[in-house]
Order: sequence, then structure tokens, then C-alpha cells
Amino acid sequence: MNSPVMQGLNLNTPAYVKNAKLVAWVADMVALCKPDSVYWCDGSQEEYDRLCQQLVDAGTFLKLNPAKRPNSFLACSDPTDVARVEDRTYICSEKKENAGPTNNWMAPADMRATLQPLFDGCMKGRTMYVVPFSMGPLGSHISHIGIELTDSAYVAVNQRIMTRMGKAVFDVLGANGDFVPCMHTVAAPLAAGQADVKWPCNKTKYIVHFPETREIWSYGSGYGGNALLGKKCFALRIASNMGRDQGWLAEHMLILGVTNPQGKKYHIAAAFPSACGKTNFSMLVPPAGFEGWKVTTIGDDIAWIKPHADGKMYAINPEAGYFGVAPGTNFHTNPNCMASLDKNVIFTNVALTDDGDVWWEGMEKDTGSVPAHLIDWQGKDWTPEIAQQTGAKAAHPNARFTVAAINNPALDAQWDDADGVAIDAFIFGGRRSTTVPLVTEARTWMEGVYMAATMGSETTAAAAGQQGVVRRDPFAMLPFCGYNMSDYFQHWLDMEHKLEDMGHTLPKIFCVNWFRKDEAGKFVWPGYGENMRVLKWMIDRLEGQAKGTDTMFGIAPAYGELTWTGLPFTAEQFKTVTSIDKAAWVEELKLHDAHFEQLAHHLPKELVETKAALEQRLAAV
Ligand code: OXD
Ligand code: MN
Repeated sequence: MNSPVMQGLNLNTPAYVKNAKLVAWVADMVALCKPDSVYWCDGSQEEYDRLCQQLVDAGTFLKLNPAKRPNSFLACSDPTDVARVEDRTYICSEKKENAGPTNNWMAPADMRATLQPLFDGCMKGRTMYVVPFSMGPLGSHISHIGIELTDSAYVAVNQRIMTRMGKAVFDVLGANGDFVPCMHTVAAPLAAGQADVKWPCNKTKYIVHFPETREIWSYGSGYGGNALLGKKCFALRIASNMGRDQGWLAEHMLILGVTNPQGKKYHIAAAFPSACGKTNFSMLVPPAGFEGWKVTTIGDDIAWIKPHADGKMYAINPEAGYFGVAPGTNFHTNPNCMASLDKNVIFTNVALTDDGDVWWEGMEKDTGSVPAHLIDWQGKDWTPEIAQQTGAKAAHPNARFTVAAINNPALDAQWDDADGVAIDAFIFGGRRSTTVPLVTEARTWMEGVYMAATMGSETTAAAAGQQGVVRRDPFAMLPFCGYNMSDYFQHWLDMEHKLEDMGHTLPKIFCVNWFRKDEAGKFVWPGYGENMRVLKWMIDRLEGQAKGTDTMFGIAPAYGELTWTGLPFTAEQFKTVTSIDKAAWVEELKLHDAHFEQLAHHLPKELVETKAALEQRLAAV
């Protein structure tokens, strides 16, 4: 294909790009954003190395000591650009009710009118990178293609780790294939001769989704989910719309494999709100007493799940890497993750050690002490004394690592399978210091959907000793569901009939809470690797080997049904994390009412009926 020339600017379209719709879109976006040049990423190692060097030269990347972290870099962002911006995130469906009460909404025409002048000339003085990527294994029937146009080389190199990015995507796309257009700018045009800053971004931010036309427009941020548009924007917000229309699920779930000592393997998908340990759970190392058991990672954040003709639900991880939170990660909480981070990593907003390595809060648990001196994520000197006086964190609490899945020693052999893995069970879990028990199994699909629809997490800002305010985070999808939440509940309910009609036994649904506290405000359940004990009980339930006890909120294990080898955990402690407090549940169900009131539009009546059934059970407690 000939490269069209726009306003004297060659689009540099490679000859292997055959998709006319793509070329026309790039031409339109070049005309709008007015970059100085256009560069089509091929995804090669040579290109990655070259762009990383370019970022080092620009001061955005610092190359870490190769003897300590080979081929790894540290980027420190602008202090105003450190996280996803939920209040600036929009679902611009034609009708407001289709975005629902949990999303920001603006009419598409109004949003387009707002964005047009902002994008006009937004890439002046910069290169526009064309980043082709596949969410899911290349060519898999479960996968989808996106093309991100971005003026950030940081985004381009991160996307090479996080997605299947590069030239091969154009082969899959062919002349007529479809793609999700993902438009991204840091919104910091450069005048002729103007020097760049290390982390260009803009005070004004918009993270916009047009669900009907399946477009993403992101303005003003270079950070994480705001800028790596394959992740939350595409794989959850846009894909949840695709899934509703096409009969599948796009979920904020890790996927893991568990193999028992006899070699039988199970696949579990688990939804937890952000910062509740999904990466840790997906890489769990079974504790002493579980010799012969193996946990393997398929994904740590997102699952695309499609029912197949055999009536089972098959899941893939649409991503190819992990963009995980660094603080808190250490050899106790996640040894496999620490091993993954030994080379080929991009770190963002962690601290720099004097010998050119990285450090974050939590690492002192491995070494027994904090370093005497660091450069913190804002480039300032940091010492334990300064931290004590000012409370300054060496790493930003939302500091991240970007690392390829293939670095993970616990990577599942099937992680890249085009057909995905058949799901045996779903887990839903929030962060609750009271009320919700360690683990229960839903008696029915409906009850499981109820548990997921009402799950919540306590805000961590709660004053010491006080119970936090519970933020409902249905299915851990509150910031990620790209349409009306109640319609999403209905979509989950419809799955039951769809799969039953195919004659299949549905995956079991479990609800967990690792975070119950005792009267002194201390966590009771040890968590991390010890969660294997709960996982094993679930598998025993799948095999019909654990009887369980009927409770008001599902089927719960008796103390003796969990394997306790290697862990001193008393029946009394077990009671603290599993008891059902009637008064607390009366209050909890009132909160469910308030939650359902907010979601009243299209709320499935079965959820209200399930609540009534729970109330009756509670009355009998
Ligand atoms: C994430 C999140 O980064 O959920 O995965 O916020
Ligand atoms: Mn997430």
C-alpha cells in the first residue's frame, strides 16, 4: 500500500500493512494531532532496546545496575500522574442509562466536541507511535486486536511487555479485519526548540470510552491504566460491552491452575478489587504440608471467558505481562513475583538504591532492615530518619513493575493456549475486617451472583481502630464495567440458563474474605501461601469430598475440613474468621438495600428475592 502523505508528513506506512480502514484512521489522527513524525512499531527486540535507550537519553528512564537487574529500567512519573483517574473516566454511551449510575457519562456528541479541540495539535513536536497489539493469543478465536496511537515511547515499550505487540498483528488483521482504535496522548505538545520534560503529561485528563463504536480516547496521563489502553480501557470497559453483545464475559479476575498430587488439574478464576492481592494469589506457593500440590499462573488481573460448544466456560488471559503494585511485594508475600522481577523489568515510581538497584516498602521484611540511603520516587534523598520525621515513602504506594508473563517461574503451561482453560470455580472476595466469613460456597449460581454483586471493600483510609467505610465493588468491576451494572448482573444470570441448556454443570462460586480482624484490630488469617488451605477445601467440594455446613451465607467448612498441617491455627481463631454475627448481618443487609437502590434501574428481581431468602435464613439463626 502506498503511504499517503498528510500535510507534507509521510505516514511511513509499512508495505505489510494492508488494512485500508487502519491506514485511513491513522491518517485522520495524524491530521488531528499533528505529530512531527509517525513510527509504526514492529515489536522486535531491537526496537524495544532502541526505544528504551531513547527514553534513557530523554531522562525518562534510568538504566539500573546490569549486575543487579539486567536490562531493567526505572521511570519516575510526574507527582500529579501516579494512578488511574476514576473521576476523569467516562463511558459515553448514546443513552445515559446504559452507562448506569456507577460510571461518569457525557453524551457522545458533547464528548467529541470537548475532545476535538484538545486533541487538535496535541502531538506537535512529538512522534506518533502506531502500536499494534492482540489481547489474547495471536489469532485465537477468543482474542481481539487493538491499535494504540500514542505520543509516548514509554507506553510503546510497556505495551510490548503487556500485550502481544508487533508486526504479526497486521497479518491477523489482514485487509479487512476489525480493531479497537485506542487513541492516546500525554497532551504536552512541544513548540519548536522547546525542551521536553522527563514525564510529559497534562493537568487536564480524560479517559473516554465510546462503547457503541468501540473507541477509546485518552488524554493527559502517561500512567498505567490511563495510558496502557489494552488493559482496563479495552480488556475490561470495551470488552465488557463486546461480551454482553456476543455472549461472553470480560472480568477483573486472575486465573490460576491447581494441580493435586495425583496430577489432576483444576482452573479457578478469582475477582478481588484492586490492591487486594490478585497477583499474589495467582502466583501462590503452597505451604509446608502441601507437598505435591502445584499452583500455576494463567493471568493475574483480567480474564476473558467464553462458553464453548461443550458447555464449559473457557478463559484466557488477554494480557501478556503483569503491571503489578510493587510495595508490599517480597519473598514472603509473593516469592514467584520476586523471582519474576530479576531481569527485563520496567519499574515505575519505586526508589533507587545507592548501588543502582530498586527498593520499595515491604522489602525490609526480606533483609531485616531498610537501606540507610535511597533516592525516593520523586528524586529526593530518603533515609529512615527522614521517613520517620516526614512520613515520606521511598516508593509511591501505587509504584509498579511491568514484566513479561514468561518471567514468572510459576507460569502455567497453558497460559498462551488459543482455546483457554475450562473454569471449574469462580472466587469473589473483598477486604472486610468483620461480617463476611473466610470462605463460603454459594448454594446456587443465583446466590453466587448475589454474593458477587454485593461484595465490598473497606476503604483503607479508616482511622486506626475504626471500621472502614465499605465501598461496594460488585464483581470487583466498579471502575471497569463499561455499561449499566444491573444489566451486567443480568448478563451473569443469563449465563446460567445458557450453559444449563447446553447440559453442563456450571462452575461453583465461592466467596472469600482473607481480611477479618480480631478485637485488637489484628488480621487473624495468615493469608498469602496459607490461602492454599482454602483452595484445597474448594477442590474437595468440587470432588464431593468435603461435606460443609449450611450457613445463612452459603456452605462453610467445618474446622476439621481444612488441612492444618504446618500451621498452628486454633479452632478458636477459625471461629473468629468464620463466625456469622447476626447483628452485623442485619446491618450488612441494610447496606445491600442501599446498594440495590442505587442500582435500581434494570436490577434483576432475582437479586431482591435472594436477599429476602437470606433475611429469612438470618431470622432463623
Ligand atoms: C490494576 C487495578 O492496576 O486494578 O490492576 O487498579
Ligand atoms: Mn486490576
